Amino acid sequence: MSPQKIIIDTDPGIDDSMAIFFALSSPELEVIGLTTVFGNVHVDLAAINALRLLEIAGRTDIPVAKGAANSLVGDYGDPPAFIHGDDGQGNVHLPPPTGKPVDQSSAQFIIEQVMAAPGEITLVPIGPLTNIALALRLEPRIAQNVKQIVLMGGNALVPGNSTPAAEANIKDDPEAADVVFGAGWPVTMVGLDVTTKASISDEQLQLYAQSSSPMAQHIARITPFYMEFSKRVNGVGGLLVHDSTAVAYLLLPDAFTTQSWPVRVETQGMSRGKTWPRVRPNHRATYWNDRPNVNVCVDIDSARTIALELSRVAPT
Ligand code: RIB
Ligand code: CA
Repeated sequence: MSPQKIIIDTDPGIDDSMAIFFALSSPELEVIGLTTVFGNVHVDLAAINALRLLEIAGRTDIPVAKGAANSLVGDYGDPPAFIHGDDGQGNVHLPPPTGKPVDQSSAQFIIEQVMAAPGEITLVPIGPLTNIALALRLEPRIAQNVKQIVLMGGNALVPGNSTPAAEANIKDDPEAADVVFGAGWPVTMVGLDVTTKASISDEQLQLYAQSSSPMAQHIARITPFYMEFSKRVNGVGGLLVHDSTAVAYLLLPDAFTTQSWPVRVETQGMSRGKTWPRVRPNHRATYWNDRPNVNVCVDIDSARTIALELSRVAPT
């Protein structure tokens, strides 16, 4: 079976880096491009980090595009340096990359790739959804030509992580997210309902340090910063691999339990960024009328997904 072609839309980001290396280490997937977006870092640094990661992986053949610097309504604040470091890579301060992004925006790159290969390209957004919404606005036909979208973002039945209401990627651009969930293309939401159950322990992280792989070695270098945050704030004994879980869905869909619900995104007030699934068909609320269903992940066998990630990126 030929590998599934994917474009990862990313704001690297420590867990983004782990997800990108996981995808690059999986023969079932062919990464045809990294498109970058603001979020964990400003978009210029996101593009630099994407180039750096591909150089570490020995995959400078893969193009990087630079995308949105701000949300659709333009309210991006400061990057969460307390989570990912000032450099988005745990403050290891890598040398500058030798390569440069392509001369296309992320939205233009996505449109070109999807329209050139109808039904073949899977989009894997693991940052704010601005580029995806912009691509849809520029070329609405991508909704009929994309294979599927598997995104890390949202929180259906659990609290948020960026605010009590909202998950970070959705909170960073709720308007874009509401467009993406309503466009009628096949979307799988890999949200906090499952990613907060996918954590890598200190002992498991040692496998990266023990591996000779340059990708594993890089992850061993950048994760201590994020591990400290994850333990301190999330109160879990390990590091939450939010973004890798979207990649894991592509590789092990049967490790996930899903529900098919229409999803709206709150764009106003205190709960701005909350993803609201209509979990009961008889709910009387017009906001969900005529909305397409989304494949919402509600449970996960994280022992299986973490074991696969470790076996691929930090083989013993
Ligand atoms: O809420 C987790 C998400 O926000 C992940 O994509 C992480 O990289 C940050 O972007
Ligand atoms: Ca991310």
